Amino acid sequence: MNRNPHVAVVGATGAVGLEMIKTLEGRRFPVGRLTLLASARSVGKKLVFRGQEIPVQELKRDVFSGIDLALFSAGGSISKEFAPLAARAGCVVVDNSSAFRMDEEVPLVVPEINAADVKQHRGIIANPNCTTAITLMALYPLHRAFGIKRIFASSYQAVSGTGAKAIEELQRQVRQVVVGEAVTREVYPHQIAFNVLPHVDSFLASGYTREEMKMENEGRKIMHHPTFRASVTCVRVPVYRAHSVAVTADCEKPVSVEAAREVLRGAPGLDVVDDPSKNEYPMPLYLAEKCNCAVGRLRKDCALDNGLCFWVSGDQLLKGAALNAVQIAEVLLQ
Ligand SMILES: NC(=O)c1ccc[n+]([C@@H]2O[C@H](COP(=O)([O-])OP(=O)(O)OC[C@H]3O[C@@H](n4cnc5c(N)ncnc54)[C@H](OP(=O)(O)O)[C@@H]3O)[C@@H](O)[C@H]2O)c1
Repeated sequence: MNRNPHVAVVGATGAVGLEMIKTLEGRRFPVGRLTLLASARSVGKKLVFRGQEIPVQELKRDVFSGIDLALFSAGGSISKEFAPLAARAGCVVVDNSSAFRMDEEVPLVVPEINAADVKQHRGIIANPNCTTAITLMALYPLHRAFGIKRIFASSYQAVSGTGAKAIEELQRQVRQVVVGEAVTREVYPHQIAFNVLPHVDSFLASGYTREEMKMENEGRKIMHHPTFRASVTCVRVPVYRAHSVAVTADCEKPVSVEAAREVLRGAPGLDVVDDPSKNEYPMPLYLAEKCNCAVGRLRKDCALDNGLCFWVSGDQLLKGAALNAVQIAEVLLQ
């Protein structure tokens, strides 16, 4: 690839797209030229990159000629339609939607875990589900050390995981509750302010949601661990930014808290924040806008012989989306 690639951000005005622009700038990715694409609704808007205002253009089928790298975050249907077109025009696509994640020809990558898979791409590389990516930042180093057979987990997912409209929904509902107005809903099926919804994504016949099954399916592919099993309950919580996951991991080998902590201290992109005597543990409020994820509340599971419990938090707009996508792009340039 061109050493100073022409980069396009598709879905530039969205929650992930805006982080993509900031991350490209913050990590000094060697962007030669930046093209910002969104729907016709956003034409006329300008977004700032390296101090310069860049006009947002409408995503059209012929925009990809001359673009080297396209970071897609405009939803699955847009990716399905436009990512193959972009790839055919010679552009490498890093896609944030779930459209291609389980496609055998598409690498699904968390660079700290399986960066080498990037090289097998045929024009499209997929970015994993945000809750899965954050969980694996702690789970994969433990898997290498102790062999993880299966996990039981519950997520606590921020509203920004649903996109810009959901952030507005929480802000509006908090104000409505505080001033005593009737609460209005547009994004979620129930009030999210001062509530928690045990419902992320659509329900399957099994009773799990699609989001819940991503942990097992995507986890197997990223960790190259085809027998990995995950039983997950995904919960939306009234937090603006950063997801958290409570995990119980069932290990093949005996595991101690000390040995696990040592492994996690050496893991890239992960901080250990774990001192219950000082009330220190990871919290989404403090992980928002941070590149690293954090793990804490390490303890031996009291109901499993080789079980380890932990709590991992991370900014899903960064490690679960924009940061991971830009890290993939950095691997492409190596
Ligand atoms: N939010 C997260 O934490 C997260 C994490 C991982 C992956 N993802 C994935 O990233 C994608 C975007 O999520 P988001 O949270 O950023 O959503 P969002 O805030 O709703 O943003 C959606 C973006 O897509 C654009 N868009 C919508 N329809 C379009 C069309 N017909 N043509 C061109 N652009 C169109 C929007 O442009 P307009 O402003 O012009 O409407 C906007 O820029 C989704 O696939 C999501 O699953 C999100």
